[in-house]
Amino acid sequence: MNYSRIAVFASGQGSNFAALAQAQREGRLGGGVIELLVSDRPEAPVAQRAQEAGIASLLLRPKDFDSREQYEARIVEELKRREIGLIVLAGYMRLITPVLLAPYEGRIINIHPSLLPAFAGKDAIGQALDYGVKLTGVTVHFVDGGMDTGPVIAQRALAVEDGDTADSLAERIHRIEYELYPEVVAAFAAGKIKLDGRKATVRQ
Ligand code: GAR
Repeated sequence: MNYSRIAVFASGQGSNFAALAQAQREGRLGGGVIELLVSDRPEAPVAQRAQEAGIASLLLRPKDFDSREQYEARIVEELKRREIGLIVLAGYMRLITPVLLAPYEGRIINIHPSLLPAFAGKDAIGQALDYGVKLTGVTVHFVDGGMDTGPVIAQRALAVEDGDTADSLAERIHRIEYELYPEVVAAFAAGKIKLDGRKATVRQ
């Protein structure tokens, strides 16, 4: 299986997209090449970042389609045309339907700003702060049909400090994301990630 042709999906700022593109430029993506940005928000800053990086983009508004399934069918068509082997969700704020999941099962990964299974879903950083946990972190996981429920590939923890705000915590979490995601994508692109049931392992 060739995982080196990558599509990144993003809905917002795209700072993780930028970190992945930079890793590729610096030869830190395990031979992986970002062939395409897919965004459900054509006006999002990530679209501009793709343009600046010279990466092709597919920008579609789901509401322009009759159903979520038809929206995703259009995406799958483009992924097939470009022979994409790995889908990297980086702040893509939509649940995926079987139309996308079935043909790419085991080849879609996501990054989430908490130590899953704690604080799945939206505003994970705010949820962690409100709960008062002393440790939180970042998870990279396989995507399945649920909300942040797929097998965990990698996690990194960090301490919540007294006086942390959503912004200060987000800044430290982002710094971890920009390191961890390129490392995992590089391992994936190099064919080093194996999944057995819910147990993912990374071959060194
Ligand atoms: C990232 O912090 C990512 O972990 C989070 O969205 C942010 C996107 O930032 N994803 C989720 O919360 C997924 N449930 P970015 O657009 O600057 O990369």
